[in-house]
Amino acid sequence: MFEIKNKDNLGRTGIFKIGDSKVKTPALMPVIHPGKVSLDVKSFGAEIVITNAYIIYKNDKLRDLALRWGVHKLIGFDGPVVTDSGSFQLAEYGDIDISNREIVEFQEDIGADIGTSLDIPTPPYAPYKKAEKDLEITLERAKEALSSRKNMMLNSVVQGSTYANLRRRCARELSRMDFDVHPIGAVVPLLESYDYKSLVEVVMASVECLPPSRPRHLMGAGHPMLFALAVAMGCDLFDSAAYMLYANDDRLLTPSGTYKLDGLKEMPCSCNVCVEHTPQELQAMDKDKRRDLIAAHNLYVSFAEIRRVRQAISDGSLMELVDQRCRAHPRLLDAYRRLLNYQELIEKYDPVSKKSAFFYTGPESLKRVEVYRHHRRLNRLPKKRGLVLLSAYNKPYSRHVPEDLGEFFSQAPVEIDEWQFMVVDIPFGIIPLELDEFYPFSQNESPSTLDVESENFISSIIKKLEGEYEAIIVSGDVNRRFNLGFKFRVEPPHIKFSDRDRLVAVADYQFGKGAGKALFNGNLQIIKSKKTGRIRYVYADDELIASIRTSDGFIIPSWKGASLLHSSLDYPRCRVVVNEESEPFAREGKNIFAKFVIECDKNIRANDEVLIVNEDDELLATGKSLLCSEEILDFSHGQVIKTRRGRR
Ligand code: GUN
Ligand code: ZN
Repeated sequence: MFEIKNKDNLGRTGIFKIGDSKVKTPALMPVIHPGKVSLDVKSFGAEIVITNAYIIYKNDKLRDLALRWGVHKLIGFDGPVVTDSGSFQLAEYGDIDISNREIVEFQEDIGADIGTSLDIPTPPYAPYKKAEKDLEITLERAKEALSSRKNMMLNSVVQGSTYANLRRRCARELSRMDFDVHPIGAVVPLLESYDYKSLVEVVMASVECLPPSRPRHLMGAGHPMLFALAVAMGCDLFDSAAYMLYANDDRLLTPSGTYKLDGLKEMPCSCNVCVEHTPQELQAMDKDKRRDLIAAHNLYVSFAEIRRVRQAISDGSLMELVDQRCRAHPRLLDAYRRLLNYQELIEKYDPVSKKSAFFYTGPESLKRVEVYRHHRRLNRLPKKRGLVLLSAYNKPYSRHVPEDLGEFFSQAPVEIDEWQFMVVDIPFGIIPLELDEFYPFSQNESPSTLDVESENFISSIIKKLEGEYEAIIVSGDVNRRFNLGFKFRVEPPHIKFSDRDRLVAVADYQFGKGAGKALFNGNLQIIKSKKTGRIRYVYADDELIASIRTSDGFIIPSWKGASLLHSSLDYPRCRVVVNEESEPFAREGKNIFAKFVIECDKNIRANDEVLIVNEDDELLATGKSLLCSEEILDFSHGQVIKTRRGRR
């Protein structure tokens, strides 16, 4: 059973329960070669390992011991053990002499915690017909594995070569069946040829159609420089044979690439091995001892990177880490850029608020999901007739607008009295002044020097806006910086918007069109923080409507506020519908579990404030969604909504 704890882009940290064990994900599973002495991987942080059932089966002595002792004792690991089926050998040698049913039963007989059916790893760029035919067999074998397993959990590998439609078909069919983990297979040849761009296409096609409630294992990706990128695509499990294979070849892994021992003058990290030995000492050792020391270094850095990735997800800074890692090799940069084309899919899963500020780290940042989401959500605000574009000052912008705004320009003479004020800034392009305290507009940093991509980004946004407003006026500074060529000198605008305007804009932006009018209609009393001057509480006729969260400017509706939203936003907007059984619990303000949810608004994202209703659309409670709509509906266990208050 899998539970999500924290999310960032498509990445998630979670707990994967296997029997009595709980494995923290993303997790790295060292490959243990049966019959060879290995390092004590547990002491490096391994909570789960993987070994090969086919190799055990083929060796009379190992098979005998495995059947007698069980696989855990055979390989000397008392936590969860995953076994692979021999598919890899099938891919390498073309043929193997065991049936799918036999290898699945054998894995169960030796006590594997998670077994694997005999999928066919079709290589990249295979002829389409072959990939399709292989896929049929892989799916048949997956079904057969389900019918022959008893208690063992099952992997079911997504295949389909480099054909996105085949990967999607495979993922969709497997997700309808009762598997526990979905490996993504046949990517090793892509890794070996540095074809990370195709890796992105393959993984994203698979992940798009896999159920978010099951962990995904990127098979054969053991190099730590790939972990952050793969996790950002939604992968939860990795296996590493690399730590030993690279060590055998005197190569040291690091999160930014590989070092050959004979080129090293200095050891590359601060692990025990690197601190206690020089490259020259290692060179002088006998082969076995050197291999074990390098393998130890490789495991240290691999587990350190997995921990760093988990921390980044919890902080909400995973993409900053991906950005750093993908600058280690031009092919990785290609992959990162490819990933940024999947904004629509990523947006569905990315939380709407995070702990970390958004850092602009280069033109790629302009394509990050926060920027994409902002431009989609801008449509939630009502349109004014005219638009004023101001230079960006310090954040929050509205508090730093200077007395003297300087010169203003337009394309043609203007006569308009209804203006929307927006600040022009990187990376979000245009930010309505009313939203300047909302996440992530006061929580982001970008360099003061502009790159060409940012310049073009801004000027193309402004070009598009020209069709949407009767008139646009820009400050002289914006006009010059972004080469807009506005010629007519106009009067500087008189910037004015009320606290109510601010609240209405934030509500529309956060909950959707019309929410602002619903919430902030009455005779408002607004309480501000003495220290920061920011709005903290809003009352209407002495009744609390909402509080504003200091960390991200989000509106947290009170019971009254939630009732106002509920009565003015049409079903199913902002709603999570729970069944009869859970109704009394919801009313008492107890948290909502996935198994009680029947339906929900498709626009709900993790960290959104939501309305909890019954099947008759009666408001039962309000809460914060921990997951997005796809996840809420896919999971059948675990908490999905943190309830704030029930109907008293
Ligand atoms: N190990 C690396 N790639 C694969 C794959 O595609 N299938 C299986 N079963 N194991 C693998
Ligand atoms: Zn080291």
